[in-house]
Formats: sequence, C-alpha cells, structure tokens
Amino acid sequence: MPRIAYVNGRYVAHADAFVHIEDRGYQFADGVYEVCEVARGFMVDMPRHLGRLNRSLAELSIDWPVTPGVLPIILREVVSRNHVADGLVYLQVTRGVASRDFVFPAGTKPSLVVTARKADPAAATRRAESGIKVITVPENRWDRVDIKSVGLLPNVLAKQKAKEAGAQEAWFIDADGTVKEGGSSNAWIITRDGVLVTRPAEHGILRGITRTTLFEVAAKLGLKIEERGFSVAEAKAAREVFISSATTIAMPIVAIDGAPVANGHPGSITLSLRHAFFDVAEKSPA
Ligand code: PDD
Repeated sequence: MPRIAYVNGRYVAHADAFVHIEDRGYQFADGVYEVCEVARGFMVDMPRHLGRLNRSLAELSIDWPVTPGVLPIILREVVSRNHVADGLVYLQVTRGVASRDFVFPAGTKPSLVVTARKADPAAATRRAESGIKVITVPENRWDRVDIKSVGLLPNVLAKQKAKEAGAQEAWFIDADGTVKEGGSSNAWIITRDGVLVTRPAEHGILRGITRTTLFEVAAKLGLKIEERGFSVAEAKAAREVFISSATTIAMPIVAIDGAPVANGHPGSITLSLRHAFFDVAEKSPA
C-alpha cells in the first residue's frame, strides 16, 4: 500500500511529493509544524495542536494555508489514506515559495504539507517498561523556542549526540544550571514526596500539548504539580524522572549522563500517568 502525502492542495504518492526549491521552509526554516499522535484510530488532542499552530503562525505573521476548519479534514484524510491506526500525523506550514530574499515576500501563499506514518504501540510500551536515557547539553537555541518552528538544527545536533552516547534524548541546560527541555520533549521530575515538577512554559520552552494534558491527568490521579525550574542534580536525586511529548506520552528516564536515576527503573507514578493519559486526552476520530 503506497504512502500518501498532502502537498498544497493535492494528495500525492509519498515518493512523488515535492516542494519547490525556493520554498522558504527549505531556504530559511521559515515555517512551523505540529506532530499529533494517532492512537487506536483517534487523533489525540488535535484541537490543542491546532490551537498551538494558530499561535505559532501568528507569532511569525504567516497566514493560515487553508481555512482553519478545513485542516482537520485534511489531517483525517491523510491518516485514513495511509491506514494509520497508531502512529502520528505531521503537518508543516511555511511562508511559501518566493525568490530568495530575507524580508517577507508580498502576496505569497503559505505552503502546507501533511504526512502520516504508522508506529508500533507495543514497541513504545516495551520502551516505557525499560525506560530511556538522557544526556545534558548546554542550551544553544534561540529565545523563541515557544514557537514550534521547523528551525531545529540545535535539536538535531543534541539528539545525535545523545544517540552517539547510547541515549535517546538530550536535555538543554540553561546558563543557571536548570533543565529546560529535551530536543523533542518536555522534562519532568517527581520529588521524593510524590510531587510532579516541570518548568513553567511562559518562555524558554515549548508548551507541550502532552504536558498540558498531563496536568489534567495528574489532577485526575490526585497528584500535585509544581511549575518551577529544577537542576540536573535535583533530577539525579529525584524519585522519578520522565519526558513528555506527542510521540512518547510520559516516558520514564532511567539515566542522566550515564548515572542511573530512580534506581535505574521506570517509576510507578510515571507509568500510571502514561496509562491514564489516553482516557483523559481528547480523541478525534481519524
Ligand atoms: N516534539 N519540546 C520540544 C522542543 C519538542 O520538539 C516537543 C515535541 C515537545 C513536546 O510537545 P508535545 O507534547 O506537544 O509533543 C517539547 C515533536 C514530538 C517532534 O518534533 O517530533
């Protein structure tokens, strides 16, 4: 079954899906994106992802590529044409195609690309049962990481470094020694008293949709959350450590920079958050 992508108004074979060489996403990373989980035939928290997309577009003064009400229909269509029951749907909007010039082009239509791909939920469960490792790297990104921009080169380099160190995620560490977030996830700890701690999302990190929904999951489970910075040392001494993202949900961390955390085993509170997540998240039929 060939994969299908949506590119600027057309559903095309994935292998034949192209954008122009002067697309500003290609030349300047002048675009934004969203990754929405697909689980058990539903798109997870899609309205929240579209809300964040709206914010990212507004922050960069990029117009909506289609009317907002049409985008969920395109997402559903791409998920369905690719027969994705579990996996993800990816959407990218750039400022469009124009002769290379730094300033915004006049009258250019934004580009929209949507793809979907399958993932193996059993493999994700196995990963969660053994936990994953993180390394730490100095923060070297721009100030506006609250915008979900496709400019991800520091994230690429950090995650490659993690891979080379036998880890699966890299945490960006602020100049003051506090943990900001992962290359593609938000960072959390659970204190010895069972309190969830995660950095405020007003600035300096991306406000993860999974993070937002986990606040509701925690409330349902009667868990307290403190929004404050935490250091690497505090994380290393924490009861549990985990990351969150659309593709990992709540994923236990069992080592930081090669040192075991939480006795080197996934924590029970993290796993209970993970298990309760799907019941709380909003599910749109895909
Ligand atoms: N990344 N922080 C960063 C830098 C991210 O790239 C992501 C998600 C998150 C978590 O956001 P959410 O819960 O909305 O997925 C935090 C996606 C999964 C990606 O780039 O593939």
